[in-house]
Amino acid sequence: MIVTPFADATFGAEVREIDLTRPIADADFQALYRAFLDFHVLAIRNQDLSADQQVAFTRRFGSIGEHANKRYRHPDNPYVLLLTNEIGRDGKPIGVIDAGDMWHSDSSHHAVPAKMTLLHSVRRPSRGGDTEFCDMHAVYEALPDKLRARIAGKLGIHHASKLLNPRAIISTSRPDAQENYEESARERPHMRQPLVRTHPETGRPSVYASPRFTIAIDGMDDAEAQPILDALFAYLTDRKAPYLLRYKWQDGDVVLWDNRSVNHRAVGGYGMDDIRRLHRTTVAGDAAFYRPAA
Ligand code: OGA
Ligand code: MN
Repeated sequence: MIVTPFADATFGAEVREIDLTRPIADADFQALYRAFLDFHVLAIRNQDLSADQQVAFTRRFGSIGEHANKRYRHPDNPYVLLLTNEIGRDGKPIGVIDAGDMWHSDSSHHAVPAKMTLLHSVRRPSRGGDTEFCDMHAVYEALPDKLRARIAGKLGIHHASKLLNPRAIISTSRPDAQENYEESARERPHMRQPLVRTHPETGRPSVYASPRFTIAIDGMDDAEAQPILDALFAYLTDRKAPYLLRYKWQDGDVVLWDNRSVNHRAVGGYGMDDIRRLHRTTVAGDAAFYRPAA
């Protein structure tokens, strides 16, 4: 197994000479896990994985995450979620079409968010369809001292419903979106998460907030809180920033990332007649916390 840091980014690495269809020796897995913590995003090229093999590999990282969405599960294994714009014979989508179209960290609106997400690219579109990542530890380090002090120990309020989020736009490609977001606005609780998160394994602080899920700051008026959130989110769209990376998929790629370290988003830019299909698994995490540096 060879781990090579991405040449054109400050984080992320490519892993070569590893076959995910076979059991991985403990020593190799330990090295892979160390790389996951160090680089936050790992790309493993040329893998031809069945749904069961993907689940077996994902389980090495911890307990496998369940998918809330029961409609779009892989027929061979319920732990694999289909992200695709393909339409079934009944004229309905067979997978999630608009997954991750705004910057976010996966399931931060849950009490216990996913630690890791893994995507296996089965078919990439002929153009577009990249995924972007942002190193939120580096964003934390780049913050002006005043802003860093302002958010330390504060809680962001996270919610899944785009209807409660003035920064969100509801995609028109998904027929059930409006209905879904109405239901989640009614039924899901507002979740409080530390705005500065301490990584449970490396101890490194990061900004744990996103325009997709963070809609307010606990105990702060919007007049004060929204400009703070805007200032944090501006780092995600600063094209010159060294802590961003854009991943261009090839068929057979496996990309996994640490949701405790990075935000990500689907860039889009492909047509509905141009198929993009990924198989998604997650690893359950632990509750987010903030431990001030001594
Ligand atoms: C996800 C996600 C982005 C993409 O699967 O959690 O945000 O590019 N995907 O598909
Ligand atoms: Mn996501």
